[in-house]
Amino acid sequence: MNEDIPELPNHEQSTLDAAFTSLSGSVSRSASELDQEAFRLHWLGRKQGRLKLISEAWLKSAPPEAKKALGIRFNQLKQQIEAVLETPTSAPKAPAEQGIDITLPGTLRAPGIPHPLLKTMHEIVQVFHHLGYSTNLGPQVESDFYNFEALNFPPNHPARDTPDTLVIAAQQTRPSRDRLLMRTHTSPVQIRTMIAQAPPIRIVIPGKVHRNDAADATHSPIFHQVEGLCVDTNITFSDLKGTLDHAMKALFGSDVKTRFFPSFFPFTEPSADVQISCIFCGGKGCRKCKHSGWIELLGCGMVDPAVFAAVTAERRKTDPSDDVYNPEKITGFAFGMGVERIAMVQHGISDIGHFYSGDMRFLEQFA
Ligand code: DAH
Repeated sequence: MNEDIPELPNHEQSTLDAAFTSLSGSVSRSASELDQEAFRLHWLGRKQGRLKLISEAWLKSAPPEAKKALGIRFNQLKQQIEAVLETPTSAPKAPAEQGIDITLPGTLRAPGIPHPLLKTMHEIVQVFHHLGYSTNLGPQVESDFYNFEALNFPPNHPARDTPDTLVIAAQQTRPSRDRLLMRTHTSPVQIRTMIAQAPPIRIVIPGKVHRNDAADATHSPIFHQVEGLCVDTNITFSDLKGTLDHAMKALFGSDVKTRFFPSFFPFTEPSADVQISCIFCGGKGCRKCKHSGWIELLGCGMVDPAVFAAVTAERRKTDPSDDVYNPEKITGFAFGMGVERIAMVQHGISDIGHFYSGDMRFLEQFA
């Protein structure tokens, strides 16, 4: 099979056709004479492969106007060679012939699991879905209006300053309400929802939030919250208490007790912090609950009429007679909880950093 490189007398179409027909014939012939590896080496071998030798010789001596026609034909020839190599030559060998021991156990691939934070976030959302709530989402890059102004934060509230809030650069030329920032809580989605939708409303809002906080055992500059909002006629503080008491029992077990402490949030009035009886000591007092018997878990309250007023002002931009959020006719409650905090209590985790470390020894415990 050590033929010389054939000569190409000229570059007329008919000469090229004849030359390539002959080459194609020798491809077919060698395909039946050689085994697949020898055939591959003969035609495609890196150094002595005939395809390379012939194409180099022919292309080098060709005038520029003939190069294209040659190129096309060499490509066709190469395809013919590759087609031969792709055709199986004989029946595949049985595993034993290939030296494979089919009695050995296979490679075990553990299926992935939801991240513990997502699992807890899903559990919280699920509790409220069962009460008839639906899920709403909003953007993480938010404007001052939704994150602060409409939620009744006064203009110079410390939360609005950069020590607390991660703001987007180069916003100074914009009016204050349009300046962009990373949302510091999921509460802005309450506003977005009410502007878009008339009561009754029952929604939960899971999502990522950002604060200008240094990371330590209980803080992370990025964390997760689930917000809730319920607006309808005759919603009272006892509806809020009943709903959250049920949710805490669903998440931590039916033995858990809840208590509500007066607190302050600009967007709820009255506001409360919710505590649950310590799930580690049953309320007797231990290190985890700092010997108080109670663990503080979330904030809540009755929607402040100032929030309804901000929503109404926005809705009136499209319908001047809009009055569906008149606080004389409807009331509502809201709540917000940190997913990391709930997951840490659920699993007795003492360092928030474990959630973000990607350490398999930590994550595998949730499989
Ligand atoms: N937005 C509050 C925070 O991030 C949490 C919160 C408290 C949400 C009370 C609420 C609420 O809806 O009523 O700290």
